[in-house]
Amino acid sequence: MRYSLVGLALVAACSGREAARSGDSAVTLASSAPVVTRATFGTLPDGGVVEQFSLKNAHGIEVRAMSYGASITSIKTPDRAGAFGDIVFGYDSLGAYIRDASYFGPTVGRFANRIARARFTLDGRTYALAVNDGVNTLHGGRRGLNKALWRGEPFTRGDTAGVTFRYTSPDGEEGYPGTLQLAVSYGLTPNNELVIDYEATTDKPTPVNVSQHGYWNLHGDGRGTILDHLLTIDASSYTPVDSTLIPTGKIAPVDGTPFDFRTPTAIGARIGQTDTQLRFGKGYDHNWVLDRGGRTGLVHAARVTDPTSGRTLDIATTEPGFQFYSGNFLDGSVHGKGGQPYAHRTAIVLETQHFPDSPNHASFPSTILRPGDTLRSRTVFTFGVTR
Ligand code: GLA
Repeated sequence: MRYSLVGLALVAACSGREAARSGDSAVTLASSAPVVTRATFGTLPDGGVVEQFSLKNAHGIEVRAMSYGASITSIKTPDRAGAFGDIVFGYDSLGAYIRDASYFGPTVGRFANRIARARFTLDGRTYALAVNDGVNTLHGGRRGLNKALWRGEPFTRGDTAGVTFRYTSPDGEEGYPGTLQLAVSYGLTPNNELVIDYEATTDKPTPVNVSQHGYWNLHGDGRGTILDHLLTIDASSYTPVDSTLIPTGKIAPVDGTPFDFRTPTAIGARIGQTDTQLRFGKGYDHNWVLDRGGRTGLVHAARVTDPTSGRTLDIATTEPGFQFYSGNFLDGSVHGKGGQPYAHRTAIVLETQHFPDSPNHASFPSTILRPGDTLRSRTVFTFGVTR
């Protein structure tokens, strides 16, 4: 196990809720607990039925996730005036998700992010992976976890309602060794937290790095640029990349660079500066090294605020890294929900993960999962508003 699954803060929060609830009547409890419903979303060309699960809490926050790609398809939260808006990108139809090459909302893996030259050596053997990003492999290859049909089961646990998606990735899929058993759970709490839990086991040593690839725009309903969003990343260093976005291996301080987001800073404030790293990324497309301060478990990683709507998003994770991608490849050619074109930098991707290309960097935290071990990883997205 890489990190203890439940951070102290979360344990405290849960036990606080238990205590507060103990005097409530059963009726209050039942009506205030989040609920989960399931419905058919569509049918794949091979006949596979894709289901969508809706999680809703008493504040009206609603998260939808479907079994194709274990993808988040929508998240509706209120702005400071109480008006609900959908704060993630996506499509209206399954067909569009099947054609999608931008990764709108899915679980990405087996190895989120890039592996250099689509190869790595493990225990003396070299493995060749699918090449799908220049000379590199990206997000699990040509047919990553985002294109797999997972099996979804709804659950209610304590005051959390959610869905668990399971998928078995066969030995050799996209070049990765080992039969990988994966589970991804999305749970919605009464405190407006979306808790994402990942679990994986394998029958052969293999690299694993799974993440959520939602595109966020806190204006709601995909409206406008994200350059006005304020971003904080709890990281004093990041991993600079080469021109193909592969880390050089250096851990560089953010101090004095456009990568210093330790205090809330508009995403657009420095994105246009002349800087080799920004040039390589066509904007931000980098991994930050979270300041864990020796702590294992869940730590706060980042916060996004939209000054216009007042919406806030806090992210906590058990992972060591955080990829922030500023939607640089969006160019209006992809049409999403309601047929709207998704234009340049109108959404950001915030991926909690291990560092890119870890299998080729012995100095990075290891991503190798071995038989008998269980990978457990948790990320919590908390939705709020500021006045
Ligand atoms: C990730 C990568 C980006 C881009 C997007 C998908 O976030 O880091 O470079 O490939 O996925 O468009």
